[in-house]
Formats: sequence, structure tokens, C-alpha cells
Amino acid sequence: MRIDVLFTPAEFESARLEGAAAVVIDVLRASTTIVEALAAGASAVVPVVGVEEARALAGPGTLVGGERGGLRCEGFDLGNSPGEYTAESVGGRRVVLCTSNGTRAIAAAAGAGASPVLVAGFVNLKAAVRAAGAAGRDVVAICAGCEGAFSLEDAACAGGVVAGLAYRQGPLATRSDAAVAAETLFRANREQLVRLLGHTAHGRRLVALGLGDDLAVCAELNRRAVVPRLAADPGGGRVLVPLSAPGEPER
Ligand code: MLT
Repeated sequence: MRIDVLFTPAEFESARLEGAAAVVIDVLRASTTIVEALAAGASAVVPVVGVEEARALAGPGTLVGGERGGLRCEGFDLGNSPGEYTAESVGGRRVVLCTSNGTRAIAAAAGAGASPVLVAGFVNLKAAVRAAGAAGRDVVAICAGCEGAFSLEDAACAGGVVAGLAYRQGPLATRSDAAVAAETLFRANREQLVRLLGHTAHGRRLVALGLGDDLAVCAELNRRAVVPRLAADPGGGRVLVPLSAPGEPER
């Protein structure tokens, strides 16, 4: 198994993703929110890129969530704070989610031919590592970044994926230089993830917006066992659903 990390969207190209298992990471906050929504019992999360596209998908039994500039878009039911996605708010409902970078990275991974496309944050790191390893393919951790730029928190989480896979695969795993760099970052910060998030540009921006409470949620390692996986939607398009537990049929 080869393990690679793409630090910025400029690197999202088919040559590095085709046929590989992709683990898409947007710690602040899209991947954390997607994990929380599915853990809270949302029937599916529909990741979309455009705000108008998201609004057009609203309907009975469907909630629309997401952000621009970190804040809930006008007319949306929910913002992008993981704590908003509870059993009471999203249980049994379909959630259309539109965020600035995270949902775009998911679409890019699928468009570049990666399969499966999984979603990870610190909150489901261990489960995501297990799922990526079980795919039996090369693994590419994709950092959503922020408006095209490198994000420290995504790189550190990608390093957690690398560390977990390398531990599980032993000598069978080979790591790109990017993977080694990310792993080093994770190992240096794994005991102080909230502090790390507080030092990042995106973390500081969320604090300035009054959304600082989200950082602690996004930094809580392995609080969830759910792994969102991109699947074909019977109605067309693609949706994120929980990866089936071993023995259960694939959705
Ligand atoms: C994104 O997709 O860029 C993020 O999730 C932004 C945010 O913090 O809401």
C-alpha cells in the first residue's frame, strides 16, 4: 500500500487519485459536521458545491445546511457548526450540505476517480483509518484546505491517517514525502489538538466569528465510529452515508 497526502486543492489530480481510496479531510468544519450529522441519525448527507444548488434541493424531509465565510447562508436551516447537527435536528432527515471548501474537495475526489471516497476528521480518525485500510488499495488523504491554501489542521489530521495506516500495515506501507511530513505534524500535536486548532488561521477566524466552541468538538479524537462514504444516490447524484459495518450490505 502506498500512502500519499495532497495538501492543497491544486494537487487534486486524477494521476494521484484514480483507483485509490480517498480520505477527504476538512477538520474545520465540514468533515466534522458530516460525521456528526450521520452519527446523529441523518439518513444521508448530500454534499453540494453551490449555494443555489443547495437551495434548489430543499424539500419535505430535507434540511439544507452550510456556510459562506463561516456563517450560515441566508435561508438555510442550519449552519456548519457540528453541534447544530443533533438527533433532534437531523435524525431521520436528509441533509444537503454546502460549504466553502469541504464539499468541494469531496466532489473533486470523486471526479478524479478515487474510490471509495471516505470522510475523516479527528472525531472519527480511528474508524476512518480502519475503513481506508480495509479498502485494500493505495490511500490518498486529501486536505480541503482553505480557499486553495494549505490548512495546518487538515494536514495534521492527514498525518493521523498516515500514522494509523502505517501502524496497521507495517512494512507493507510506503509513504510519500508529503505523508511523512503530515505524520510528523500529527505526532508533534496529537496531545494538544484543541491548542493546535486555536493557533490555525481558520481556528482564529472561527473564534473571531463567535464560533470558538466548535474547536473543542472538532478536536475531540475518536468521539465517533461512523465513517461517511460517498455512494450513488438512487435518485441521481451522490450522497454520503455511513459505511456499512462488516457483514452489513453496502448502501
Ligand atoms: C469549509 O468547507 O470551508 C469549512 O467547513 C468552513 C467552515 O468552517 O465552515
